[in-house]
Amino acid sequence: MDSQDVKSDLVLILDYGSQYTHLITRRIRQLSVYSLCLNGTASLESIRKENPKVIILSGGPHSVHAPQAPCFPSGFIEYVESEKIPVLGICYGLQLLVQRLGGQVSIGEKQEYGRMEIEVQKACGLFGNRKVGDKQVVWMSHGDEAVNLPQGFEVAARSQQGAVAAVEDNKRRFYGFQYHPEVTHTHEGMETLQHFLFDVCGVSAEWKMEDVLEQEIKAIQEKVRLEDHVICALSGGVDSTVAATLVHKAIGDRLHCVFVDNGLLRYKERERVMETFERDLHLPVTCVDATEQFLSQLKGVVDPEMKRKIIGKEFINIFDAFAHDLEQKFGKRPAYLVQGTLYPDVIESCPPPGTQSTHSHTIKSHHNVGGLPKNMKLKLIEPLKLLFKDEVRALGSILNVPEAFLKRHPFPGPGLAVRVLGDVTQGNALDILRQVDEIFIQSIKDAGIYDKIWQAFAVFLPIRSVGVQGDQRTHSHVVALRAVTSQDGMTADWYNFEHNFLDDVARKICNSVRGINRVVQDITSKPPSTIEWE
Ligand code: XMP
Repeated sequence: MDSQDVKSDLVLILDYGSQYTHLITRRIRQLSVYSLCLNGTASLESIRKENPKVIILSGGPHSVHAPQAPCFPSGFIEYVESEKIPVLGICYGLQLLVQRLGGQVSIGEKQEYGRMEIEVQKACGLFGNRKVGDKQVVWMSHGDEAVNLPQGFEVAARSQQGAVAAVEDNKRRFYGFQYHPEVTHTHEGMETLQHFLFDVCGVSAEWKMEDVLEQEIKAIQEKVRLEDHVICALSGGVDSTVAATLVHKAIGDRLHCVFVDNGLLRYKERERVMETFERDLHLPVTCVDATEQFLSQLKGVVDPEMKRKIIGKEFINIFDAFAHDLEQKFGKRPAYLVQGTLYPDVIESCPPPGTQSTHSHTIKSHHNVGGLPKNMKLKLIEPLKLLFKDEVRALGSILNVPEAFLKRHPFPGPGLAVRVLGDVTQGNALDILRQVDEIFIQSIKDAGIYDKIWQAFAVFLPIRSVGVQGDQRTHSHVVALRAVTSQDGMTADWYNFEHNFLDDVARKICNSVRGINRVVQDITSKPPSTIEWE
């Protein structure tokens, strides 16, 4: 599905590198309005192609005075004015608007970071029915400040320090917030965005999962010709399962699924997943045991990025071989590969074109995006690539994918390879990790808290510590337990277990898993950590 296929008003976000850009997208979609991000320096042609109803200029780490400060393309102002498209600048976006429309932005006079209070200066504008003098708590993060506004602009709110906090020019339809309405620390942020989109801009709330499904099926049927065959790698996770079920609905038995046991799966995962695919989903799945192939390639490799690249490459080799077998059977090579790539994978893995340092840096090569070899013979079908995780779950529910599948915690493509730190083939690390992970997850399920947690897992640390077990000195391995809450995996908080629960789990692990004498808990959020350890 391309964004142009969506039958809904589009709010287009031009991204200038703020860590909150994706959050603006999500907030708008939560209001049932379709929203997408483009690089802030995208060409006028690509902006025009999206036919946006509203454009938002995001925040970013730059100063508008920097020589390389990213900016919308030339002709942009003329375009939005002639099409009467409202433009909202947030933080850097506001400063960009002010500066490019003839106002003045000063460098760092009044730096404002964190929780601040703003006061409404103008009734019946950006703040709806709020009265002049009403106060709100907002989240700010800026050094530069708008000091002279372009002609026609009015101050809609000021900060407690007297700095411009919101501006509007209703005639030309330019608006701006010097704070972040998209973060939860801004108490009335959602109401403000809602008022802006529906009352100020007249956007309609039409973004529905049923439409997404219908459009997606249509797009796949148009793309895949009747004689084409399609393959799909099923991991047993939510994303690939929903993607496969959707494609199966679109093209039926021309879809051929493969489940790869790469030796990096969790305890009894292969048996459990295969049983569910066959029993509940009736998807045609071939199981390939490629344990040897993966582990021999990974032997001695300690660099996390290298591991991810190797795994990505081996997956593709297997899909190629699977495609070859199908070619023998049907006399025609499959043309497409289905992947459950999500929107956050796309945002985090690809630095936007034409930019290096201006945007969020590449964090990890998610194997399903960053590690694909250039000479891959299969074309991709990525039916979920414009969706966030909770949206995929909603789609799965419409497709009758069993609840148990939809609620499964995410599991990374490179599997336990990113949870055994260092060489995955060291000793019996994988076996130990599987046992520990199973005890941890089962305990979480027994405690009735599985659904409160975004993701929980154990990590095998490549160190030994001294312990005492049965009056004997031991020099054994250490495992870390990680559990986080999150909305979409982009940011996360560590989950605060009851002490008794942790005590119980640690005891169970040390008493029943040979080779472990110490259990630690990871209590970092994302950022600064990532969810996985590698
Ligand atoms: P990080 O560790 O980047 O993870 O904070 C965010 C979410 O993505 C999952 N993850 C992956 N998923 N292929 C995937 O399909 C990958 O290579 C990969 N790496 C991380 C991770 O489990 C978490 O849910």
